[in-house]
Amino acid sequence: MAATTLVILGASGDLTQRLLMPALYRLHALGLTRDLRIVGYAKEPWSREHFERHIHKALQAFAPDFKEAQWNRFRRQLDYVGGELQADQLFALKDKLNPDALFYLALPPALFGVAATALGEAGFAKGPRNGWRRLVVEKPFGTDLASAQVLREQMHAHWEEEQILRIDHFLGKETTQNLMVFRFANRFIEPIWNAQHIAQVQITYAETLGVEKRAAYYDKAGALRDMLQNHLMQLFSLTAMAPLAEWDAEVLRNHKVEVLRSVVPITAATVDAHAVRGQYRAGKLGRKTLVGYRSEPGIGRGSCTETFAALRLEIDNWRWHGVPFYLRSGKRLASDYSEIAVQFREVPGALPKAVHAGNNWMIFRIRPTEQMDLLVTAKRPGLDLAGRPVVLTAPYASPDHLEFSAYEQLLMDAIEGDRTHFLRFDEVEWAWRLLTPVLDAWQSGTPDFYAAGSEGPSTQKRLLDLGHLWRSIARNGDA
Ligand code: BG6
Repeated sequence: MAATTLVILGASGDLTQRLLMPALYRLHALGLTRDLRIVGYAKEPWSREHFERHIHKALQAFAPDFKEAQWNRFRRQLDYVGGELQADQLFALKDKLNPDALFYLALPPALFGVAATALGEAGFAKGPRNGWRRLVVEKPFGTDLASAQVLREQMHAHWEEEQILRIDHFLGKETTQNLMVFRFANRFIEPIWNAQHIAQVQITYAETLGVEKRAAYYDKAGALRDMLQNHLMQLFSLTAMAPLAEWDAEVLRNHKVEVLRSVVPITAATVDAHAVRGQYRAGKLGRKTLVGYRSEPGIGRGSCTETFAALRLEIDNWRWHGVPFYLRSGKRLASDYSEIAVQFREVPGALPKAVHAGNNWMIFRIRPTEQMDLLVTAKRPGLDLAGRPVVLTAPYASPDHLEFSAYEQLLMDAIEGDRTHFLRFDEVEWAWRLLTPVLDAWQSGTPDFYAAGSEGPSTQKRLLDLGHLWRSIARNGDA
């Protein structure tokens, strides 16, 4: 790797301390980023020493395996410049930049456009002949279709689409990346990955966490914007996309967009058949008593923000016609449980009398553990030809392989310029377009309430086809 500069704008903030620096520290400890110069930029008029002390504290708190000796090597990579998000002040970074440089916007979303413009005006979007420039930006990309389009215009005024790396940290998760490998590297999957064999797909991201200290952001966003529009839509399109003929970031993203374009549009008239929203009331999780969303600090007593959202999506193409995809995510649910669960259709034909063949499920589990489960029917040991359910489990982790956090993966990709796991603008745009009628409908009315620590609102049932059941959040998916 040639010497590269990573400038973090918003270097005094939470994302930098909690996620970016611990990831950069680990990559450094593993010897993967020895030539990286990290320059923090924020409005605080700090000295380099002050910044170092700030990051030192952050790493002690958030970096697993923190070691002082390692820190003493890592700190030499750090530098700091204080200033506002204005071209004339950003210009002070000029002498710190290598020909290859990337700018990470670890900033509140309202400042993404301002920062991209100011960096452009400072002349940083264009590197010298022998170098490259990239802009890394976190979700959320806009708060609806119109604002996402405005943001794109602002960014494109100075930056080419190829230079912009939009992070959705779910694309850095091992299970998400495994989905691409497992689906396409195994001969037996592709022939059955279609409506002829698959009955339904459930994608769940359930959290026990509440709104925590993010009231100001969350109360404006809600679950649909916070989780469904981005993370779950990504898991959805990776599950449903067609195999690639060429392994290439653009082809991959074309395929994902193709899925989104084939989704049957939800309209004002069909919102209730396709979407359910909920909000948690007071409840209990184990022995812990939990307050309701409206009693959380910073949340208005009459807030109608949804803390749970579920969608039913249908894809109108040859592969998926007639297969419902159910997506849901919520806060303060019964457990931290997340997965992509694919149910196959029943088998036809005759079976021995004592064999009841349940539908097969293939489950890509994300939490509580990353693993793959295949639910099958096998013979029950004994004299009779009877059946029993068996789970074939493949743990994802392996003692022979290091695992990387989503931020470690994505930072490495950003430095190396691999765009595979970043979002192209049209993916973001299509996801907003699909959800706009739901967002519009949810501007009025109230969410359905559910007790904190529960499975979510009982009304989520109305999205399901006859014969389908939501997998249990309390029991990690088991019936
Ligand atoms: C974030 C959401 O993008 O993803 C949070 O803003 C959510 O509300 C988080 O808790 C979940 O991701 P992870 O990787 O922390 O489980």
